[in-house]
Amino acid sequence: MFAARHLPPDQPALVRALRARGRSVHALRRRGADLGHAVPVARQLPSPAAAQRRWARAEPVFLPGILGRGPQRFAAQIQSALRMFDRLRAGGSLLAEFERRIGQDPDLRYSGSSQDGPDDREIERVFVDAWPGGERAAADLWAMLAWLATDRSDRSLRIRFSNGADGQEQWLAATDQTAGWVDLYAARAFPECAVILACAPLRRRLAALLGRPYRLSERILYNNTPDGGAVFHHDAETGQLGVVFSQLQGTTGWLAIGKRRLAALLHHCGHQRSVLAAMRALDDQDERLWRVLNRDAGFTAELAARGALFVLEAGDSILLPSHSRDDVAWHSVVGLGQRPSLAHSYGIFARRPDYPAAADPELAATPRTQAPPA
Ligand SMILES: [Fe+2]
Repeated sequence: MFAARHLPPDQPALVRALRARGRSVHALRRRGADLGHAVPVARQLPSPAAAQRRWARAEPVFLPGILGRGPQRFAAQIQSALRMFDRLRAGGSLLAEFERRIGQDPDLRYSGSSQDGPDDREIERVFVDAWPGGERAAADLWAMLAWLATDRSDRSLRIRFSNGADGQEQWLAATDQTAGWVDLYAARAFPECAVILACAPLRRRLAALLGRPYRLSERILYNNTPDGGAVFHHDAETGQLGVVFSQLQGTTGWLAIGKRRLAALLHHCGHQRSVLAAMRALDDQDERLWRVLNRDAGFTAELAARGALFVLEAGDSILLPSHSRDDVAWHSVVGLGQRPSLAHSYGIFARRPDYPAAADPELAATPRTQAPPA
């Protein structure tokens, strides 16, 4: 089933006619590239079996409305986060924002901040240490404010929570106790994390798909602006089983598809001489392939024709499986609507016993050990 249909850029009369009939028609534009329009056509949750098949094949799993009334329940916090991003976009200080949000936190202590990191997009980082009960449990936890793109015409912002040095080596080296404190840092600063963490239907789906204890870490808040968004990429990082992206306010357009089907489509459309060549070319993109993936309305239409186009509204999530470098969901995002939106993206990791129960409302609500059978 298709979540959204695609219209080419040169169909203004059709767009007007659909809108006159009350249909939502979203212009897909990103940093000057006109990719046509998206028309949502279906918003049905997949059955657990269908979701399992898609997950196993490294295809995205679209879960419309899975967050229920969570975004409405946290409307005040969500609006507060949106106003914060507006201030940050106008040059405001992340440190000042965090001082207001968690300056009085009983466990998290400010340990420093920095401006402009090695990446051109980085704006500011705020570091804290965790001192529950007066003993230091984790150090060097940070929140990094950054532009989404190097192109400054895209005013999209994001805040990423992590710890230690940049890069996946650090994730691998970190204990689950540290990861848990990073997750608590995000949840204390932005209580609307609970929309995702305390969403029982989403958590049940994740538990069934993963079949093992998991944690939702390496959290990123996205404030995608209209005409902005991430170009095609994947999130296959060592230890990361996938990503759950949840729209809390506003709308984003998505192209998302498993790498193997993406490679087959590039070959089918004549952009690569073989599927194997396309698989390798995706790993090491040249300018021509990058333009096909990110600036070509014709290829966007081909993707949409294969069910790879999605429109995420507030309350929707999309799961992006990451089994390996070749079995992974590739995806790109387009900010829709009239103003910046809010979404949370969490990496999915296997959870070890040292993950603090307090970091996950599901664990905090459930006894961690069961009595042996009589
Ligand atoms: Fe991603």
